[in-house]
Amino acid sequence: MSLSEAFTALKTQAAIDAKTPIVAHFEYEADRLGTQSLSVAGLYVDVSKQSWSDAGFQAALKLFEAADLPAARERMWTGQAINVSENRAVLHVALRDSDGENARLRGAEITADVKTARDAMKAYADGIRSGQIVGATGKPFKTILHIGIGGSDLGPRLVWQALTPLKPQIDIRFVANVDGSELALNTADLDPAETLVIAVSKTFTTQETLANFLAAREWLIAGLGEEAASKHLAAVSAAPAKTSAYGIPEDRVFGFKDWVGGRYSLWSAVSLSVIIAAGYDVYERLLAGAYEMDQHFLTAPFEKNAPLLLAAAQVFNRIGLDRPSRAVIPYAHRLRRLAAFLQQLEMESNGKRTDGYGQLLPTKTCPVVFGDEGTNAQHAFFQMLHQSEDIVPLELIAVKSNPEAPLDMQQKLLSNVIAQGEAFMVGKSLQTAEAECHAAGFDAEKTAIIAPQKVCPGNKPSTLVLLEALTPETLGALLALYEHKTFAEGIVMGLNSFDQWGVELGKTLANAVLEDITGTSIKAHDPSTTAAISKVK
Ligand code: F6P
Repeated sequence: MSLSEAFTALKTQAAIDAKTPIVAHFEYEADRLGTQSLSVAGLYVDVSKQSWSDAGFQAALKLFEAADLPAARERMWTGQAINVSENRAVLHVALRDSDGENARLRGAEITADVKTARDAMKAYADGIRSGQIVGATGKPFKTILHIGIGGSDLGPRLVWQALTPLKPQIDIRFVANVDGSELALNTADLDPAETLVIAVSKTFTTQETLANFLAAREWLIAGLGEEAASKHLAAVSAAPAKTSAYGIPEDRVFGFKDWVGGRYSLWSAVSLSVIIAAGYDVYERLLAGAYEMDQHFLTAPFEKNAPLLLAAAQVFNRIGLDRPSRAVIPYAHRLRRLAAFLQQLEMESNGKRTDGYGQLLPTKTCPVVFGDEGTNAQHAFFQMLHQSEDIVPLELIAVKSNPEAPLDMQQKLLSNVIAQGEAFMVGKSLQTAEAECHAAGFDAEKTAIIAPQKVCPGNKPSTLVLLEALTPETLGALLALYEHKTFAEGIVMGLNSFDQWGVELGKTLANAVLEDITGTSIKAHDPSTTAAISKVK
């Protein structure tokens, strides 16, 4: 079956399936849950509350066959230049390959490179943690100021929030925005003598990161003097030569290769801050969890492959039923940045309109991904999700056991996430709403007004991802799960998930507007833009 025939078959089946309530699929399909759920790497994934029948589920899986996903996986893992527009390989998976035995860049061994980078990070992290490497005044480092944005921020920030010890020996403050308030707020109570500033930028050209880094360096110099300040600087970049202009000692520059995309870079030295603050062993465990998911993605059959179950649900909703958004709700405070991380991973990867050769794509691509932590989100935007006629598919992520939470609180949290999945699916009928009104003593007139307002149409699809516990391993597996989901969707949609041309226009125009704001004249713009520039000038 060709890919376009597979799309047609998916849309036809999806239109049929959408007419049947999700709950009814459970009645007609004997082993729906068994077929549409699995456990891997400490994660339980259940897509049986999606709007599809078994035929719809199979039609979505067919897309991976029609798009020849196995060949695409092979191209990625063997280091072919699958990022065609930039002529780059995509090998972040090599960073978590425990022995590096499978890591090859266009046929050439890259194990030694990966190992050298790991050894350098380990030595530096161990040195700081043991107190062998200290600040200019002899004080041990207590805080790391991690300066980076996008992929140089979201991954390490998420990992640190997920795994921060309750009383960390070394803390991390993340500074991303070029709004100087973020740096000011994060340095106000810090002692420069105990602070290590790490600039993290793949390109080392990013405006926000360089501006924050220069300001942080000034802050160090003001507190310690110029020579001493350099002992408090380190950098992470795939363009290490560019760091030399910023006074960072050469032996404090940690590199990674251009075959690691920004939004896939948390497995590299981009996580140096976390490696120092949490310990190298935690990083190794994170890699091990991701590696387990990699092996699963490579070897499990399509219908029992966790990333493909999530990707199938997404293409069914987005391409099959034209649903333009998806909510990601982690019921875990420690995973509160997951939606932000996935926004970059999915929307920067797959929010495209052409393929890698410039041809317009035949289908819709990435939906709007949004979300916040549960239960907070229930008290914010769930009202709309329950009662709007628009259907927003959900991903509910939860953690089964949490040793730092009192058991009764954890039970309450878990009851909420499970109840929401049920509530979205079953909804509340008019009949039930009327019965509630009668029970509350409403007369017929009031019941006629209130009962329809209480109706929840239900039939809203959700997926459950349940982690046994939040450990470095399960976190690694969870993030790799989403990376592979994103990759598989990109293959089906026929696009290059590894470039990001769309963000360039804003960067270019921001530089042009900056010249207008700081210069003596204003270039030609539309009247609204000119007025805004004049107002802030
Ligand atoms: O906004 C585009 C982008 O290039 C992202 O892809 C990247 O993660 C981010 O900027 C930061 O880039 P860098 O790590 O090069 O500073």
